[in-house]
Amino acid sequence: MKVLVTGGLGFIGSHTCVELLEANYEVVIVDNLSNSTIDVIDKIKAITNKTVSFYELDVCDEVELEKVFQKERPEAIIHFAAYKAVGESVEKPILYYENNLISTLKLCKMMQKYHVTKFVFSSSATVYGSPATLPIKEDFPLFTTNPYGTTKLMIEKILKDFVSSQKDISVIILRYFNPIGAHPSGLLGENPKGIPNNLMPYILKVADKELERLHIFGNDYDTKDGTGVRDYIHVVDLAKGHLCALEKTKKEPGIFYYNLGTGCGYSVLDLVKTFERVNGIKIPYQIDHRRPGDVASCYADSTKAYQELGWKAELGIEEMCKDAYHFLLESKR
Ligand code: UD1
Repeated sequence: MKVLVTGGLGFIGSHTCVELLEANYEVVIVDNLSNSTIDVIDKIKAITNKTVSFYELDVCDEVELEKVFQKERPEAIIHFAAYKAVGESVEKPILYYENNLISTLKLCKMMQKYHVTKFVFSSSATVYGSPATLPIKEDFPLFTTNPYGTTKLMIEKILKDFVSSQKDISVIILRYFNPIGAHPSGLLGENPKGIPNNLMPYILKVADKELERLHIFGNDYDTKDGTGVRDYIHVVDLAKGHLCALEKTKKEPGIFYYNLGTGCGYSVLDLVKTFERVNGIKIPYQIDHRRPGDVASCYADSTKAYQELGWKAELGIEEMCKDAYHFLLESKR
């Protein structure tokens, strides 16, 4: 089966392409390189010993996108391409709405025109806002606190209406918790441009001595050590979740929602201490004020994904920390 992967050179997209190729899917990548680099294609090929088709284009560009559908005739789509920085989305909301919504609308149009019935969408736990209880289940109320999160929620709604209007379309919404880690080969990982917003990329810059110390945003939350608690999930586990989702699209039309997390909450200090222990390296840090918009704790109930997709996370935070650091060391060689 041929799968079109938008944003296939990004952090989660590239790991998913590897898993798809290893499971003998044909992969067509569309990416505009806005937050990725072209050498990722060679890394994917080196890991899998297989080839991919690549098109450098913006999914919002309908004319160019249609040429890809005409030529490649994909049977399924996994849609990762999106802007994803929370802070930037507050400063540039129109850019976020334009990019994230229009790209998805164009893909829906192409699905209708080229009879593509299988679609997997990259959503986020951010659609749960600040939940009243934990762990988070898929039927919890949806609420967002920033434009990035609102784009994800709006797209979920658009896809719901789209599915209702079509007979045979199957859409799987995957709500990711906090993806970290890297491919065990050390060839793929997360390497954001500029100063990172997210915790693990920041820790890596400190490990690399590019940044002096980590700033921990608050130690006065109602958690075991006062720092924020999150459900970190290894990116390879997350990538595998997309293959399980694709299997589901082959079985049943409709729209289905799944949390992809481990179900375990770890604090910022847990992650820092584990990183230090497994990699034998010190991460200097200081405690700062809380970051606006952060919640104290957030972790998933992923039972539904296990029951309906047969998926569950296998890797723990030790592997996440080891693989992330291994990627850093390999990228220096
Ligand atoms: C954020 C986004 C989420 C997105 C995810 C991508 C929100 C509110 N957050 O999640 O939508 O999918 O990134 O991975 O929508 N921390 C520090 N110092 C730092 C960075 C982070 O102490 O330099 C702390 C944070 O306060 C938090 C934890 O580390 O407690 C994780 O933060 P981060 O990696 O940014 O992820 P989230 O905010 O959970």
